[in-house]
Amino acid sequence: MTFKAVLVGCGGMAKGWLRAVREIPALAGRIEIAGLVDVDEGAARALVDEFALPARTGSDLPAMLQAADADLLFDVVPPAARKPVVLAGLEHGCHVLSEKPMATSLQDARLLIQAAERAGRLHAVVQNRRFISGVRRIRAFLESQALGDLTGLHCDFFLGPHFGGFREEMDHPLLLDMAIHTFDAARFMAGKVPLAVYALETNPAGSWYAQGAAASAIFEFSDNVTFTYRGSWCAEGAPTSWEAAWRFTGTKGSLLWDGAESFEARVVASEGKFLNDLAPIDVPEAPEAAKTHGHASVIAEFLAAVEEGRRPETDGTDNIKSLAMVFAAIESAATHTRVEIRE
Ligand SMILES: NC(=O)c1ccc[n+]([C@@H]2O[C@H](COP(=O)([O-])OP(=O)(O)OC[C@H]3O[C@@H](n4cnc5c(N)ncnc54)[C@H](O)[C@@H]3O)[C@@H](O)[C@H]2O)c1
Repeated sequence: MTFKAVLVGCGGMAKGWLRAVREIPALAGRIEIAGLVDVDEGAARALVDEFALPARTGSDLPAMLQAADADLLFDVVPPAARKPVVLAGLEHGCHVLSEKPMATSLQDARLLIQAAERAGRLHAVVQNRRFISGVRRIRAFLESQALGDLTGLHCDFFLGPHFGGFREEMDHPLLLDMAIHTFDAARFMAGKVPLAVYALETNPAGSWYAQGAAASAIFEFSDNVTFTYRGSWCAEGAPTSWEAAWRFTGTKGSLLWDGAESFEARVVASEGKFLNDLAPIDVPEAPEAAKTHGHASVIAEFLAAVEEGRRPETDGTDNIKSLAMVFAAIESAATHTRVEIRE
């Protein structure tokens, strides 16, 4: 079956979605982009030209969903515009795949979950960075107990991107627009439940963001596992990967991951000295089936879930657990207290 999709929000990220749909064989022939919508219809027309799409363009989403007889809504609008867009899609009877973050408050995220349930449709989130191969590889490695029991995961995220646009104006740009990926990846790789957080959010001297370009957070995960995060979006000079640079500690050893191609794991080889002897161990590549590709993998998983009548991996009912980490960190920073995570 070919699904008719309407894509709303024709800015920078929309091109990534259209490239994924065009270039990934698993998606070929399964999705027809029937309509493109933007408050600025010129942006929609520019994408139709760039991607040579036989799609309608418009600025009125409900009218486009009707005219295109859409089955799917691809929501690529900025976070503040998300809620009415998702509700319009569900109301029309579409399954909706939204960009992250799922919502700008936990109340709104809960409301969207309820709306999807009432409509009997799926609402899932593009949490694409949990689908990159390194993240899948580490989850499998930790699950294999190669490091023994996991005791901690610690990451640094330091970059200096000059986006312009909504990120430089919004509240909590690092925590809400970026750390959602890192927190979700931590939850996924650890396979643990986030329980509580202490956080500090700042806007460092020289920041080109209106607020909250940097944050540090200590999360308590289930099974006595600690996750620490140090991040900044206005740090020039020593950039980390967009996936962050990680240290995982277990009862038998540690793994360092640079967020790209370097995986270094060492475990205790012999005991009895002040500092035990260590030996390197392999971090096996993810099996072929688990090698995934960001946006394309999320879209493919979403389509498979629609076809099979099940919830996709990044369904709103799961994604809200990562969003809850973000809002708990924001609350902790604002109140200078430890905040429990109950989602
Ligand atoms: N998953 C990722 O890796 C990733 C990367 C970048 C951006 N994003 C997310 O994608 C979303 C869009 O980001 P972007 O960088 O493309 O932003 P952008 O500002 O480049 O584009 C947003 C577009 O949406 C349009 N728009 C705004 N409100 C609208 C509304 N109510 N109805 C229709 N159109 C509307 C704007 O006119 C603009 O063309 C954000 O949620 C962002 O966090 C995700």
